[in-house]
Amino acid sequence: MRILFIGDVVGSPGRETLAKFLPKLKEKYRPTITIVNGENAAAGKGITGKIYRQFLEMGVQAITMGNHVWRNKDIFEFIDDAKYLVRPANFPENNPGQGMIFIKVNSYEVAIINLQARTFMDSSENPFEKADMLIAEARKRTPIIFVDFHGEATSEKMAFAWYLDGRVSAVVGTHTHVQTADNRILPNGTAYITDVGMTGVYDGIIGVEPAPVIHKFLTNLPARFEVPKSGRTQLNGVVIDIDVKTGLSKNIERIFFNSDESLFN
Ligand SMILES: [Fe+2]
Ligand SMILES: [Fe+2]
Repeated sequence: MRILFIGDVVGSPGRETLAKFLPKLKEKYRPTITIVNGENAAAGKGITGKIYRQFLEMGVQAITMGNHVWRNKDIFEFIDDAKYLVRPANFPENNPGQGMIFIKVNSYEVAIINLQARTFMDSSENPFEKADMLIAEARKRTPIIFVDFHGEATSEKMAFAWYLDGRVSAVVGTHTHVQTADNRILPNGTAYITDVGMTGVYDGIIGVEPAPVIHKFLTNLPARFEVPKSGRTQLNGVVIDIDVKTGLSKNIERIFFNSDESLFN
């Protein structure tokens, strides 16, 4: 089984880049399932019902989220019916939505879990303990378990992956929007990367216009970050090969290209 995962899709440049390249990626990699992080899909903040449906129409089977999950209020209109959307599982119990979903592909089920880290992030329940509970639940149904661990600190993300090594198929980090080059299979068979990166504007600062970000660092004044309307874009992702019997991974490959130096030029 092969999973294609695409890092945080940021605003319309990200959505357009995904729409343009996903068919080519599918042709090249032939993934069994495609998962996209959509926490920044709507103008850089959150997701709307329309965008959620567009992702599914593009051939995405599941959408993971992160700390921006509630940023666009449209989510409260559709999340109760969004079977293929997964938001951080370690948020308060009374929050809408689901922290783990199961997707059926061929004769297999894939459990998809989203958890948020705690270092330099807003408060949440302990993701390590929550992961133990969710894995126990998932393993009753399937050994194929994919985790999007949404966090800032490299050490926390690595510790989390090593903690789960051998118990889940993959732990992929998201949130920093900068792809790391440490993709590997951990000793007990879990595929890992500290951060998959992002899909959106290439000539920007983690997906947004540089000038307001620089201004904020110079002045400490509040700034409004905008997703640029044009310019070069990039697509970041990983492809993971999983043994369906054991749920352990054999390989994790990185995808990183920009619109000038596309894999498909
Ligand atoms: Fe993000
Ligand atoms: Fe984030």
